[in-house]
Amino acid sequence: MRIDIITVLPEMLDGFINTSILARAQKKGLVEIHLHNLRDYTADKHRRVDDYPFGGSAGMVMQCQPIDACITALKAERDYDEVIFTTPDGEQFNQPMANAFSMLNNVIILCGHYKGIDYRIREHLITKEVSIGDFVLTGGELAAAVMADAMVRLVPGVLSDEQSALSDSFQDNLLAAPVYTRPADYKGWRVPDVLLSGHEAKIKEWELSQSLERTRRLRPDLLGE
Ligand code: ADE
Repeated sequence: MRIDIITVLPEMLDGFINTSILARAQKKGLVEIHLHNLRDYTADKHRRVDDYPFGGSAGMVMQCQPIDACITALKAERDYDEVIFTTPDGEQFNQPMANAFSMLNNVIILCGHYKGIDYRIREHLITKEVSIGDFVLTGGELAAAVMADAMVRLVPGVLSDEQSALSDSFQDNLLAAPVYTRPADYKGWRVPDVLLSGHEAKIKEWELSQSLERTRRLRPDLLGE
């Protein structure tokens, strides 16, 4: 999988994509993540990428030209499955979407900024508009980081067996069961006996009942309740 992220703040994402599991996935050759500074594509001699909105509303709008130039340059190199735009009015990102994106070969993520981008880009070049939640960030970089992280960890080979994504919360529309580690008794706070029993079937049954109980209590919407 290859992810190309277009941003006016590449330095904000550089540390993130080169740390921990995303760094290891790239070193293993399973994933490539490339950052593109939108200012490198502007035809403006002052390297501006935004301008005032027609109609006189407040805020600045990202211009068509640099975004079009960057996306066109990338598309000249390879085919892309999706050109994603991060925006609070997009479709809500969730685990099924992360699963679907993780199976793609080449993806562009365009980070929004300012008051938004010229709507013509959304009409003509963007294939998916995605929000990470009902709140407004100062820019789409954190949203791009969230999506890249959720996608990359699902690429086969990225996580080791013990980190397996299969037991994640949401993977089966249930919250994960609680987990514990040594010691079995910490200051009198005891690990549930069943987990120390060595009885695999009973442990599985307990984990499922905990998942169901936590989902019912904390996220009944996931069970359609
Ligand atoms: N840009 C600003 N806020 C955002 C959000 N909630 N999701 C995605 N991109 C954004």
